[in-house]
Amino acid sequence: MMKMGVHTLATIAILALASSLTYASDPSPLQDFCVAINDPALFVNGKFCRDPMLATADDFFFPGLNIPRSTANSLGSNVTLLDVTKIAGLNTLGISLARIDFAPYGLNPPHTHPRATEILVVVEGIIYVGFVSSFPANRLFTKLLYPGDVFVFPEGLIHFQFNVANTTGVTFSGLGSQSPGLIVIANNVFGSTPPISPDVLTKAFKLDKNVGFQRSIIAESLFTVSKTCSNRSAMVARSSSYFRRKRVHQRRRKDVFVNGKFCRDPMLATADDFFFPGLNIPRSTANSLGSNVTLLDVTKIAGLNTLGISLARIDFAPYGLNPPHTHPRATELLVVVEGIIYVGFVSSFPANRLFTKLLYPGDVFVFPEGLIHFQFNVANTTGVTFSGLGSQNPGLIVIANNVFGSTPPISPDVLTKAFKLDKNVVEFLQKEFYTTS
Ligand SMILES: *[C@@H]1O[C@H](CO)[C@@H](O)[C@H](O)[C@H]1NC(C)=O
Ligand SMILES: *[C@@H]1O[C@H](CO)[C@@H](O)[C@H](O)[C@H]1NC(C)=O
Ligand SMILES: *[C@@H]1O[C@H](CO)[C@@H](O)[C@H](O)[C@H]1NC(C)=O
Ligand SMILES: *[C@@H]1O[C@H](CO)[C@@H](O)[C@H](O)[C@H]1NC(C)=O
Ligand SMILES: *[C@@H]1O[C@H](CO)[C@@H](O)[C@H](O)[C@H]1NC(C)=O
Repeated sequence: MMKMGVHTLATIAILALASSLTYASDPSPLQDFCVAINDPALFVNGKFCRDPMLATADDFFFPGLNIPRSTANSLGSNVTLLDVTKIAGLNTLGISLARIDFAPYGLNPPHTHPRATEILVVVEGIIYVGFVSSFPANRLFTKLLYPGDVFVFPEGLIHFQFNVANTTGVTFSGLGSQSPGLIVIANNVFGSTPPISPDVLTKAFKLDKNVGFQRSIIAESLFTVSKTCSNRSAMVARSSSYFRRKRVHQRRRKDVFVNGKFCRDPMLATADDFFFPGLNIPRSTANSLGSNVTLLDVTKIAGLNTLGISLARIDFAPYGLNPPHTHPRATELLVVVEGIIYVGFVSSFPANRLFTKLLYPGDVFVFPEGLIHFQFNVANTTGVTFSGLGSQNPGLIVIANNVFGSTPPISPDVLTKAFKLDKNVVEFLQKEFYTTS
């Protein structure tokens, strides 16, 4: 009996571990894509798929994310979420994208996404952001973000964004689920149907029964803002001393590898572990392709570890190209900010169908996980895009460099046959890519 008990416990422990590893994010796709169709009579995890041969580029497309949304509401904010209900091609791909518009002093109030980590870049405004770690520490991590600053909100944690500028604010976020879900804490707790008993809430929130929730929760975050924002130089000084302390605590094990990275003691984490500045600054495109990708993955933002998402800015010169490549571990969801970007991806064997689209500012497009894709600025002006990618470390395989510029080179015989090219052409390409990659 005793032995059985131990076995059962061990089994439960292993199952618990396995399920936490397996279901940490959206399930992995089992095919190139699975464009959603709505069947109100049937339910599955996600959506049913349309016949892949009927899929078109428009299933991966959404226009107009450049257009400011109305913030004429009591909070002064407006979230435009492009999830699987807006872009059917996102089904099974584990990612979505949001634009948030803020009025001067507009607030996106405390909320959680039960199924997604969020990675946000500020385009306009000064956004005071924060999240709170879970029980028992409940630590608040806050940061004042300027245009180009990037911040991570880990999966399921309560967080908020508040535009402390007297001008409008705009942000874009990648979210690590096709359907991140939204729980606005105040509305969820104090505005449920039917209502939660006031006795429960009074006790839970230690409130007098006459105090309204708006005052208790939103005023709380406003109070924290005024307290913390008042002295940025003090904040910066404090964070740099934290950095020094962290370095002391960091231990490097060169002989041991894990899936992802080792974690720092959670009590030593600070807001700066989730932060990256300067993504508003144009990158140099003075190279032969006329493009420059700035990827904020786990090597740039240590707090992304285990959270399954990253963010990229791409700068394009006039007619600049981001050449055919794949991300072996991530779907990419891209929004155009400037330029006219001709994009495409190719489905896998045996169909190898090319899906293309001409994107204007505000247009959004999906590149499904692992498929070869490209972005080409066909405008005579510079181009800028932002992308969410569904991995902390999406990986990059630039097809030409990978195939023709490998170390050591792939046998020209192999490539000649594979690409149906003259051997001289292959050898020429190998020389080109070997030196340029
Ligand atoms: C958000 O903006 C859209 C378009 O401007 C508008 O139709 C919608 O009512 C706004 N939502 C809120 C909550 O203000
Ligand atoms: C906005 O704030 C800036 C600096 O804080 C100030 O110079 C400007 O007068 C303010 N504008 C308005 C319309 O309040
Ligand atoms: C801000 O903090 C710095 C460093 O703690 C201090 O020297 C400075 O006087 C403070 N400024 C204000 C306006 O409180
Ligand atoms: C990208 O831009 C950065 C900053 O402008 C520059 O240092 C880097 O060399 C550029 N990379 C390429 C490939 O041009
Ligand atoms: C860029 O293209 C636009 C429209 O296609 C044209 O009117 C303009 O003259 C062009 N500018 C340059 C610098 O080529």
